[in-house]
Amino acid sequence: VSVQGSVKPIGVFDSGLGGLTVVRALGERLPGESIVYLGDTARVPYGTKSADTVARYSLMSAGFLLRKDVRLLLVACNTASASALPRLERELPVPVLGAVEPGASEAVAATRGGQVGVIGTLATVRSEAYLRAIAALDGRVDVVQLACPLFVPLVEEGWLGDGEPLEAEAAYATARRYLGELRRRAPRLDVLVLGCTHYPLLRSLLSRVAGDLWSHEVRLVDSAQAMARRAAQLLPDAQVTGTGALECYVTDEARFSEVGSRFLGRRLTHVEKVDL
Ligand code: DGL
Repeated sequence: VSVQGSVKPIGVFDSGLGGLTVVRALGERLPGESIVYLGDTARVPYGTKSADTVARYSLMSAGFLLRKDVRLLLVACNTASASALPRLERELPVPVLGAVEPGASEAVAATRGGQVGVIGTLATVRSEAYLRAIAALDGRVDVVQLACPLFVPLVEEGWLGDGEPLEAEAAYATARRYLGELRRRAPRLDVLVLGCTHYPLLRSLLSRVAGDLWSHEVRLVDSAQAMARRAAQLLPDAQVTGTGALECYVTDEARFSEVGSRFLGRRLTHVEKVDL
């Protein structure tokens, strides 16, 4: 599939502000594209909720972006992609790109030994969407999943494994606890999919901890980067001369500028609060 048309923006939605990691990655690949972002910050987190609730919220968020006349919808949220993508694809009149398949396909291409780890929220793991996506690509790859629910609040607090010693220690201990369990269950793993919007910010911590635990190299696959790469393939007529404007909407304004800037990597401006 390729997506035609040029002036209409790309829509990106997430349960909150973590999806700005996808906006950041998109900006590096498609700098001229205008983006309309919706963060459902009034109802974040999705990762602890049931698939039905996540699907209902996702359809409302998608509906808002359709009213902004987007020509392609990116479901930046791994939890929403894992729980609601088939429904979104069925019910929306524009092409929809989820977070799971691009990361799954990079993982399959990257593994040498045939064992892949996937970390994400409770809902993402429970949905088994990564298991299905990887099995559809290569049935011989063994996938070991692990939910890491403490990573989301850790990242939102900015405890990323560097800086203030006690915060760095807490982040390291949390990563060590989760990846230690993964190491016991998947000793041969050589690829680890960061299956959540928040995890790219833990990249350097996770690669340090993986280096301590596995005696061979473990490649990290960042689902935000994988999604941006896939979006660039879907948009052969991408705007190279456009403004690259970012319009940002949230459903609750608490802490958006502090937390949002962390994910976007620059100051978040032009934010408006909306009701869905
Ligand atoms: N955006 C979610 C994801 O990528 C993480 C935050 C949440 O639980 O809503 O899975």
